[in-house]
Amino acid sequence: MITASVPLFYIHLSFYTAPRMCYTAFQGCDEMNIDEQKTRFLSICRETIHREGLEELLDWLLKADFFTAPASTHYHGAYAGGLCEHSLDVYDYAQKLAFLSPTTLSEESLAIAALFHDVCKVNFYTTEYRNKKIDGVWQEIPFYTVDERYHFGGHGSKSVYQVQYFMKLTPEEAAAINCHMGFSDGDKGTVRDVSDAYEQYPLAWIIHVADEAATFLLER
Ligand SMILES: [Fe+2]
Ligand SMILES: [Fe+2]
Repeated sequence: MITASVPLFYIHLSFYTAPRMCYTAFQGCDEMNIDEQKTRFLSICRETIHREGLEELLDWLLKADFFTAPASTHYHGAYAGGLCEHSLDVYDYAQKLAFLSPTTLSEESLAIAALFHDVCKVNFYTTEYRNKKIDGVWQEIPFYTVDERYHFGGHGSKSVYQVQYFMKLTPEEAAAINCHMGFSDGDKGTVRDVSDAYEQYPLAWIIHVADEAATFLLER
């Protein structure tokens, strides 16, 4: 139960942060699909993860925009429900890639790292409108922009902090979430640091590759 020291990311902040202008073709919300994804996501969590704090973490995700947020403004999953869809895609790919690990991976750890690797994108996007002339008529067209409500200074590291606020992570799970972006995440030190993490924790490499596969092969 979260009663005190509520961090900024937990609250739906009302103050306005000037968004970076990233225009995209906005796709409408498919309520049916979002509901199905939400049901699947919650089922996997409750069947596979047996750890104190899980329900509090899920409660936060349910109250925030995790199940309706896009995965990006215009790169992949740039539509309502894209973030949950991407998280499930990474989970599916990670399961397929698990056989590559030289050590047996825990089902629970794989689910935690895959499903929560991008919770840093919760309360991160917003919808704006611009005028566009369609068939000679000006219309207001929605598009996604970044509107960060909790500035942490990292991507994977922010997800680690947010998950750990509710539920303890093992060192392997924390490394997997922290390094899921590979060398493109700016706060990861040197290339060697990320490589060492992948060498020490096969799960970290598998989540990274699953994330790339979902992003560049499936959600293009
Ligand atoms: Fe990410
Ligand atoms: Fe991702």
